[in-house]
Amino acid sequence: MKTTVLKVDWNHPEKDKISIASSAITSGELVVFPTETVYGIGANALDAAACQKIYRVKERKSDNPLIVHVSSMQMADKIAIIPKKHRRHVESSWPGPITFVVKARKVLPRTVTGGLDTVAVRMPRCRIALDLINASGVPIAAPSANISKKPSSTKAKHALKYFMGKVQIIISSKDSRYGIESTVLDLETFEILRPGSFSAERIKSIFGKAPQAYTPTLTSKSPPRSPGLKYRHYSPSTPLFAYAGDSTAAINKITSGMKNFCFIGSAESCRIVAAPHKISLGSRRQKAAIARNLYATLIDLDDIGVDFCIIENFDMKGIGAAIANRIEKATNHRSFSTRRELNAFLH
Ligand code: TXA
Ligand code: MG
Repeated sequence: MKTTVLKVDWNHPEKDKISIASSAITSGELVVFPTETVYGIGANALDAAACQKIYRVKERKSDNPLIVHVSSMQMADKIAIIPKKHRRHVESSWPGPITFVVKARKVLPRTVTGGLDTVAVRMPRCRIALDLINASGVPIAAPSANISKKPSSTKAKHALKYFMGKVQIIISSKDSRYGIESTVLDLETFEILRPGSFSAERIKSIFGKAPQAYTPTLTSKSPPRSPGLKYRHYSPSTPLFAYAGDSTAAINKITSGMKNFCFIGSAESCRIVAAPHKISLGSRRQKAAIARNLYATLIDLDDIGVDFCIIENFDMKGIGAAIANRIEKATNHRSFSTRRELNAFLH
């Protein structure tokens, strides 16, 4: 397939370009577009065949439902039942990096909901995305723009790397501001199904109560509440392990004699750790920057060609919970604090 790449201005999206993209949406094609969290790969949410293409192109399992993006409360009301008691809280949270799981209306095809009676809905805080939804006149189902299991795209160049030749249109614009996907909150149980760019603290301040942190027990017989949680995610091809010890200075002793590896961590730790390759995510004091840089760093890691990579852990405050969750998944829960533990992964 020939992919058209449209360079679109982040703050003032060009109408003619948005119109080309919205025509693709209404004719059942796929459009990759930016949002403030990560880039998304979108289709008309009311068109089952179009949504089916998303699963094919992303190599995504069909029981992992899609987030539906809307540009107004009226549009949300057409596809979902927003509980009355939370309506004003939802309105105060949107547009923004938070997705609400609520009861779905029948108009939505099963392809979108993965056969569940609920739907995940979000109004993004990104002019391009909102203009695209408005011009299309339909809600847009869009998971993150990555091939399943790979890190999500936060930069246009990574969306191009994944989807050139596989979708009709790629909208190329600025880097995503948050860099980690939206928080998914189940409005019925008030559980966070996926920590994300909208912190639990912020949810509490808007809703007046603290959300339950959801901890999936992947071994239990009941399926996880958020289907996506059971799949491996965000992994680079390079073997990646998290350092779980207290002081990153200890990494030097643990890795002494090891040659071809990379360390990813805060600027502060990069100054201390003596790895042959190092990538700084930014200052530990600026977690927003760490979140913003994480996925792009994980994608670029594979180009260095090291045998393995060590990534630092971050604390759980604010967006830290989302960062820690993505690192846990990217490392496939492999963390170490001694040389023996690291060796066990390497051999
Ligand atoms: O920031 C974001 O949320 C990005 C941008 C593009 O908006 N989208 C995104 O979509 O991350 P995706 O498909 O990669 O992640 C959607 C998550 C999955 O873990 C999925 O299982 C969960 O939301 N989800 C979708 N519908 C659900 C539902 N009805 N109930 C529970 N979880 C649901
Ligand atoms: Mg995703």
